[in-house]
Amino acid sequence: MPVPDSTRHARDAAEAIGARFDDLDGGEGYLFRISREGRFVLGGGGNVCAYPVNSAPAYTISRDKAHTKAVLTAVGIKVIPGSLWFAHTRRAALRGPGREAGDAAAFAQRRGYPVFCKPNTGSRGTFAEIVRSPADLDDYIQRLAVDFESFLIEPVLDGEEHRVFVLDGRPVFHSTKSAPSLIGDGRSSVAQLLAALNSTLQLEGVSALPASALAGRDLAATPSAGEHIALPGRRNLSAQGSIEAVSEHVPPQLAAPAIAAAAALGLRASAVDMFDLSPARDLSDIVVIEVNGNPGLRTLELAGRSDLIRAIWVHMLNACLNA
Ligand SMILES: Nc1ncnc2c1ncn2[C@@H]1O[C@H](COP(=O)(O)OP(=O)(O)O)[C@@H](O)[C@H]1O
Ligand SMILES: [Mg+2]
Repeated sequence: MPVPDSTRHARDAAEAIGARFDDLDGGEGYLFRISREGRFVLGGGGNVCAYPVNSAPAYTISRDKAHTKAVLTAVGIKVIPGSLWFAHTRRAALRGPGREAGDAAAFAQRRGYPVFCKPNTGSRGTFAEIVRSPADLDDYIQRLAVDFESFLIEPVLDGEEHRVFVLDGRPVFHSTKSAPSLIGDGRSSVAQLLAALNSTLQLEGVSALPASALAGRDLAATPSAGEHIALPGRRNLSAQGSIEAVSEHVPPQLAAPAIAAAAALGLRASAVDMFDLSPARDLSDIVVIEVNGNPGLRTLELAGRSDLIRAIWVHMLNACLNA
């Protein structure tokens, strides 16, 4: 069984700086301890925030997308407008009225479909979906409620997607993301290709894409071999999206909002996701999608930039282990 990426990266950096790495999870790698000369840090995979330099308040606030929007808005950073709704009535006594599923449906009806919905504490693109009708919203809320308590309704934006990784105020790398697609094999129908993608996603713990993601397509048609059928919506690598480019040269128009967003949240290490909404795609209209306080670094691995992964981890471990 493969150990989590963060554990591999931490172990590699620990070896590079002469620190001791101990697996505390029977070899599965979901919990570890790194120590040197009487100082230590704990870390892990899964739900553990692997980045030892990030404080618990900063990380937990960044996990909450509504809170993140509030923090960034307060310092003048542009975010996607979004409203918070609850998928079930658990803990309803702890909040004011007007925020339940029925209120969400009325809100979406007023602002008009399609809307973009995502769980407030989601990650890896799970349940980040374009919702096109009242019936689709009902279906969305029912599927979401199994795993999540609340969700955001946002406008559907069409922009070029960028990520900037920021470490202690410095932009480390920039990457762009493109939408996932189904690729025809000349034999399988669109419905079969979607089912195959969804079974891959399910094994990785990411929500399946509903057939409504292919609105307007004939699900019974058989695309020819090599034909790409774009899947609009989430572009997360974890949701089979693809990386277009990785570079250490971070355009200043992206570095500035990314550094400001990381600072506003108090995250020492973070990946800031942004859309460029400018019609010319000249980076003149940047909006922050979200800030990740525990970002995966698979992008760098796929780009052959293990050197950057090691540099990030060595910097963090030295920051925590130096007396
Ligand atoms: N309002 C939106 N309009 C269009 N696409 C969006 C919107 N918000 C998010 N996305 C897409 O969905 C992906 C996942 O959303 P995000 O807020 O980053 O949640 P997660 O924590 O699951 O990554 C984004 O990377 C982007 O591709
Ligand atoms: Mg994201």
